[in-house]
Amino acid sequence: MLGLCVNVDHIATIRQSRRGVEPDPVQAALLAELAGASGITVHLREDRRHIQDRDVELLRRLVKTKLNLEMAVTEEMLQIALTLKPEMATLVPERREELTTEGGLDVHGHVDEVSQAIGRLREGGIAVSLFIDPEHHQVAAAARAGADFVELHTGSYAEAKGRKAQEAELTRLIQSVSAGRELGLRINAGHGLDYRNVGSIAAIPEVEELSIGHSIIARAVLVGLERAIREMLEAMGTDRAR
Ligand code: PXP
Repeated sequence: MLGLCVNVDHIATIRQSRRGVEPDPVQAALLAELAGASGITVHLREDRRHIQDRDVELLRRLVKTKLNLEMAVTEEMLQIALTLKPEMATLVPERREELTTEGGLDVHGHVDEVSQAIGRLREGGIAVSLFIDPEHHQVAAAARAGADFVELHTGSYAEAKGRKAQEAELTRLIQSVSAGRELGLRINAGHGLDYRNVGSIAAIPEVEELSIGHSIIARAVLVGLERAIREMLEAMGTDRAR
């Protein structure tokens, strides 16, 4: 069954705009689970611009579905992950000046470093996913590095202008899904997915879970979080989504 991992970073962004205590990403996560999310994602960034260490600690204790910690490949983050033991760690590139994660992780260029990080996380009982662009050499490198999952970056698909360009990006994603499966990888996808463009990605049978944040939280501001998540599950196709 296709899962929906809800990213609650934006709830923390609103809270941090006043350096206060509300809204609380932990409350949002628990509501998201009630609304049908199969997991909760947070990105603990080096600059702590939204999610704080305490949020991840509380989420670790309270999330009942699955906690997916997005993290850069740094010693600090590896230590935090190995202490908190989320069910899954998704390794992402991180640049201070970016608004959100922009490109996928260059696994091909850093196989040894990534593979060492994967080894340590897996030894700690944490499944590892690599957020990569849908490119064959990155998929192959992810398999060589020993990842459990790849999360294919759907940003170029989401941003493609016009049907032809979007179809070309979809084809690239589908080819990467097949290549990944052939190499024994499990497949997730995410970034930039919204209520209009999610259907084609949700229809790829080998994709296990979608990671979605911005569009859900943007709608939740207007219609409430539970309804926003329910509507996203509907847009994903109720036959595949839980
Ligand atoms: N997957 C990864 C690895 C991300 O970094 C993000 C953004 O934090 C998402 C998925 C969710 O993207 P969006 O907020 O555009 O739905």
